[in-house]
Formats: sequence, structure tokens, C-alpha cells
Amino acid sequence: MKSIFNVFGSALLLVVMFIVGSVSAAMSDKAISERLAPVGKICVEGNECGSAAAVVPSGPQSPEDIFTNSCNSCHGSGIMGAPKFGDAAEWTVRLAKGEDILIQNAIDGVNAMPPRGTCASCSDDDIAATVKYILENSK
Ligand code: HEC
Repeated sequence: MKSIFNVFGSALLLVVMFIVGSVSAAMSDKAISERLAPVGKICVEGNECGSAAAVVPSGPQSPEDIFTNSCNSCHGSGIMGAPKFGDAAEWTVRLAKGEDILIQNAIDGVNAMPPRGTCASCSDDDIAATVKYILENSK
């Protein structure tokens, strides 16, 4: 009778261990972090985000890309008095200050013009190249 109980007891123990084992396997770190990941999470620059379309380029950015992503919202339409992209008259007036001043103001911000046009990942050189791109296309 005692040995039968032992056999039954071990079998039961095995079943319990099996269940516990499969549950903890299902709750591996990866599984847990996937479950904890918010739905529709924001793709932060520098992270792998799964879909290539959602990834913001973190390498060298072309002036054209920077303009499209960070400047066009204001300079495309000319809202809040932003000199409009392609408007030779507006940019010629500004250019009278000197290109270096325009670049410096784009980096530091001036009045309603935010520093770097809010492009946090843009270096001074990126901004300078983007200002030159605007000027080149506005004469
Ligand atoms: C939130 C709107 C906004 C964004 C975004 C923006 N600008 Fe501007 N920008 C302005 C406004 C408004 C002015 C005019 C400021 C003034 O002279 O009062 C301006 C002026 C400028 C000037 C002329 C500065 C001067 O001294 O006359 C340059 C150059 C410029 N922006 C470059 C850029 C570049 C490059 C970007 C993108 C990296 C950018 N801006 C993004 C609003 C914006």
C-alpha cells in the first residue's frame, strides 16, 4: 500500500512539475516583455522597430530629408511669418544679414523659429546644409 502511494505520489509530482515547467517556459523573459509592450508603441530613433517604414533614419540625413521632416511644416506654407521655401524675394531680404547669421539663427532659433527647427538629431552642419539647401532653391 505504501509503495503504491509512492508510485502515485511520484507520478503526481511529475505532472505538477510538467505543468509548472511549461508555464514558466511560456513566461520566459521574451514572452513577458512582449506581453508588456504597449500596443502601437512609438518607434524611437535608434531602435529596431520591426517595420522599415516606421524607422526614422539615424545615420547621415540629407538636407532635403531634414527640410521635409523638420522645416517644411512652417517653411513650406510660411505660417507664423516663416520665410517660404522657394520665395526668392523673402529669402533675398534675409540673406542681406549674411548666410552665416541665417545659419546661426536656424541653429539657435529666432522669434517663432525654434532652435534647429526642433530637429534634435540635427548637428550644426546638418542645419547649415539645410539652410543652404533652402537658399539654393529659393532664388
Ligand atoms: C515651428 C515653425 C518652424 C519650423 C519647424 C522651422 N522654422 Fe525656420 N523660421 C520660422 C519662423 C517663424 C521664422 C521667422 C523668424 C523671424 O525672423 O521672426 C523662421 C526663420 C528661419 C530662417 C531665417 C532666420 C533669419 O535670421 O532670418 C532660417 C534660415 C530658418 N528659419 C531655417 C529653418 C530650418 C533649416 C528649419 C528646419 C531644420 C526650420 N527653419 C524650421 C519657423 C520655423
